[in-house]
Amino acid sequence: MDLDLRVLVTRKIPEIGLKILQKHFEVDANPESESLTAPALRQRLARADAVLCLLTDRIDPAAIDAAPNLKVISNHAVGYDNIDVPYATSKNIAVCNTPGVLTEATADFAWALLMSITRRIPEGEKLMRSGEFHGWDPLMLLGADLQGKTLGIIGAGRIGSAMAHRSTGWQMKVLYHSRSTNTELEKALNARRVALEELLQTADFISIHLPLTAETRHLINKDTLQMMNPGAYLINTARGAIIDEAALVEALEKKTIAGAGLDVYEYEPKMVAGLKDLQNVILAPHIGSATIDTRNKMASIAAENIVRVLNGEPALSQVN
Ligand code: NAP
Ligand code: GLV
Repeated sequence: MDLDLRVLVTRKIPEIGLKILQKHFEVDANPESESLTAPALRQRLARADAVLCLLTDRIDPAAIDAAPNLKVISNHAVGYDNIDVPYATSKNIAVCNTPGVLTEATADFAWALLMSITRRIPEGEKLMRSGEFHGWDPLMLLGADLQGKTLGIIGAGRIGSAMAHRSTGWQMKVLYHSRSTNTELEKALNARRVALEELLQTADFISIHLPLTAETRHLINKDTLQMMNPGAYLINTARGAIIDEAALVEALEKKTIAGAGLDVYEYEPKMVAGLKDLQNVILAPHIGSATIDTRNKMASIAAENIVRVLNGEPALSQVN
């Protein structure tokens, strides 16, 4: 136990993560289910040797400069676009994340969005609750079949691959777009690596599983949306800003694509005007990894990464 070292936990997290940290360090834990403001974050970072932060915290140069003793930034997430990694690296600060443990839960959720939007479950649920369902109708809420269709995966890493593997239940053809070849996916599913344009023009269902980077921001925009078929659906459980959300609203309004399933938003937690008024989109509040087991594992790994780095050992997962 090294109570001389102080760890800031920026927001309420699963208890298991706090317990791990409290065994080793003095812990300054924000007990609220709300992010600290930027000034409050900087103030509490001033005495921190480590920070366990969330994807809702911006760990930018100002935050890092406010923390002269900081040795590790441990994100309670696999995505780390909220952290200025090059700046942290320049200050010899380790940046850690929680890959792997949320892969299956997030892929499950991407499928849940795909199935909900193609089979129009939110519209049906609304109909039931409104008392407007007057009995079986051969033309009511007709959706799209999945069997034998083409699934396009953009970003065939851990979650993209898990998404692709789940498609075997519907004997789908799998296309993927990544910078490198995914040999495992090609062998297991006969998946084919294609250019983004071919994927957009060919796939019936497109699911995004990229990190948000300068290169992927607005990868899906007015031009690329126009490459999709009018019968195609777009699913995004990665990061909102990979899609130009205003362009997506326009495509959904004009029905140049059939529908979308979103868990993430460009200006999260806000949505661009018009999105919530559309019927051909299902909107989830960034809950891709939200299962009890997964969130406990994320909290444990985020805490364990801090214990290891502060003890001079390699982290379970470090990105710099
Ligand atoms: P990952 O294993 O690193 O997969 C990302 C893939 O994207 C990699 O295979 C990478 O392959 C590819 N890629 C990166 N830049 C690219 C580019 N410019 N063009 C084409 N492909 C590119 O990450 P993961 O664990 O699957 O997670 C993916 C993302 O999902 C995270 O970064 C996070 O933002 C998001 N996420 C969201 C939730 C949620 O709650 N909704 C939960 C978990 C994760 P190459 O390097 O070969 O291109
Ligand atoms: C969630 O969005 C994550 O990146 O873990």
